[in-house]
Amino acid sequence: MTTRKILVTAALPYANGPIHIGHLVEYIQTDIWVRFQRLRGHRCIFVCADDTHGTAITIRARNEQRTEEELIEEVQKRHVQDFSNFQISFDNYGSTNSPENKAICIEIWNAIREQGLVKEKDVEQLYDPKAGTFLADRFVRGTCPKCKSPNQPGDNCSVCSETYSPTELINPVSTLSDTTPEIRSAPHLFIELEQLHDFLVEYTQSGDHLQKEIANYLKGHFLGDDNSPDGRKTLKDWDISRPAPYFGFEIPNHPGNYWYVWFDAPIGYIASTKQWCALNGENLDDWWKSSDVEIHHFLGKDITYFHTLFWPGMLKTAGFTLPKKIHIHGFLTVNGSKMSKSVGTFIKAETYLKHADPAALRYFYASKLTPRVDDIDLSIEEFVNKVNADLVGKVINLASRTAKFVEETGLSVSYPEDGGLFASAATAANSIAEAYEEGDFARATRLICEIADRVNPYVDDVKPWTLRKDPNKAQELQDSCTIALNLFRQLVIYLTPILPELAEKTGRLLNNPIASWSQAQQPIVGTPVSKFEHMMKRLETKDLEKMIEESAQPIDPSDSATTVTANQDNDAALQAEPLAEECTIDNFVKIDLRVARIVNAEHVEEARKLLKLTVSLGGENTRTVFAGIKAAYSPEQLIGRLVVVVANLKPRQMKFGLSEGMVCAAGGGGAEVFLLSPDSGAVPGQRVH
Ligand code: MSP
Ligand code: ZN
Repeated sequence: MTTRKILVTAALPYANGPIHIGHLVEYIQTDIWVRFQRLRGHRCIFVCADDTHGTAITIRARNEQRTEEELIEEVQKRHVQDFSNFQISFDNYGSTNSPENKAICIEIWNAIREQGLVKEKDVEQLYDPKAGTFLADRFVRGTCPKCKSPNQPGDNCSVCSETYSPTELINPVSTLSDTTPEIRSAPHLFIELEQLHDFLVEYTQSGDHLQKEIANYLKGHFLGDDNSPDGRKTLKDWDISRPAPYFGFEIPNHPGNYWYVWFDAPIGYIASTKQWCALNGENLDDWWKSSDVEIHHFLGKDITYFHTLFWPGMLKTAGFTLPKKIHIHGFLTVNGSKMSKSVGTFIKAETYLKHADPAALRYFYASKLTPRVDDIDLSIEEFVNKVNADLVGKVINLASRTAKFVEETGLSVSYPEDGGLFASAATAANSIAEAYEEGDFARATRLICEIADRVNPYVDDVKPWTLRKDPNKAQELQDSCTIALNLFRQLVIYLTPILPELAEKTGRLLNNPIASWSQAQQPIVGTPVSKFEHMMKRLETKDLEKMIEESAQPIDPSDSATTVTANQDNDAALQAEPLAEECTIDNFVKIDLRVARIVNAEHVEEARKLLKLTVSLGGENTRTVFAGIKAAYSPEQLIGRLVVVVANLKPRQMKFGLSEGMVCAAGGGGAEVFLLSPDSGAVPGQRVH
């Protein structure tokens, strides 16, 4: 087998927030592929960095009253820590705000300009005079110019899906200052992508650089061709500059203008490689301008456009090696829905680690990942079952049921007759390797579990725990444990890319480190067996429930140590509002309380206390409810969350419209209003009894 030289990247996480379990789909996926290549003996380096530029960083830094540099430095430390806790094995983790990145931006920029791809055009953009900044699309909300739905973001309407520019919004409001922005015109620099049309058709439509569905999507939406109904499409010019103030790199010869974050972000892949080269005595051109290298990018479907059109265009123009393959994955859902802060399924890496083993998540994601772009779902129930039944039950159990019986004797000196089990598992190596190579980790884990299913009956049959009681069966005991542990080791070798820590522990247990895929072809014999160390815990549903609970209501760490006692709360609230007169169950059932999701929330002009909510009971069943919660909640905090509504309340005509229900809340009013939320798992439409 010839040794391949492979450079792998995962998308650079934004430096404006923590790593969460959605991100981890990508970093775990990429890490598994990288570890697989290394285990196969290839040279594979894995680089990444924080994506540090853009308006969002400035705004967060401003809110926290510190500089952008201070913010990105702290975030990077946390990101690095999270990744290391999940065993993501980067060779270098850089930052786009680095001198290396700036230098390569300039190099690529010069090439693009020299080839006549840059032009200047005036652009009208919304400007917030109060905040003193031009507004990125997501910092503007207003009424959709097409369907007239209020409170829509600056780029596309969540109701009718129309895309538009923020200057087309009716009654735009800056979300930074709640004031009306003005339109200002400023010169911007554009890259004429259309000049690269033919190259992009060739790159995206041939040579297996992209998954089929991605290639088709690009053809349908951006490239077109002579055979499609509307013919060849024209690629839009790409607006690459932003006027000051902007946190980024100033464009040479254009003082007061900065590269848009998406220009310098992917260049961060090269800059991070350059740092690694400097630390390891390597030459950057041998990695980014050499035909011997395979470049593989891994990223999520939301950033397809940037990586499949702009990025290859930039690389091509500046004479860098084109990616051999761009691996695009879908999004994570939890229990079938988008991750949600209010439900508690927006789980930070850091929170996860307090409640569960990172190896469990690595295994579960592996078991769900395919080479397709489909979203993947983390159902808590399936998560627990898979980890406990497959990993702990079928794999780890092979060692935990046998290792202790050979602690004193070690493994038998020759490999005993095992009815062909080892040989058949050795043969499976090729098909498992193929599955890994293709990114079909779901198939790889399935094949591995099939082997485990053949091995377990062997152990159940020979029952080492019974043999052990009979002194005449010592040899039989040693032989059966030698077989079980060798089969266990074979499975662990196949799982090494997914579970590196398990591989290390297995290496220590059998005094034979796992370092290569081919080790699964030869049983080990005659070696000592160390004391069995705990390998992996079963997942407990209650721990995961706690994790979700903690994610839903971030608790103040200073009071996390308090123990709950019956009288820790005083009775002021009860005093203020004594209990109502007794009612019967019949009285109660007349009131139909339902779980509902707030699908829209907006301010009502002239109403001091009210927010207008649209709540969904599922399907087409939505209601408008005016709720006096304006002082306590902003619309953004409400959209998406679950609440409890009185669903059969007689509609009431109010000054601002018809109110068709009531949202349940506690508290005395004003800012002291606390909406009720159901525990995670509840779905809109369910009745509350
Ligand atoms: N900064 C850009 C990428 C620049 S690459 C030159 C960015 N950052 S991100 O933090 O929003 O996302 C980083 C990666 O994580 C992206 O590939 C994104 O698709 C992926 N994911 C973020 N949330 C995700 C899920 N909920 N599910 C799966 N992947 C997700 O985009
Ligand atoms: Zn609309």
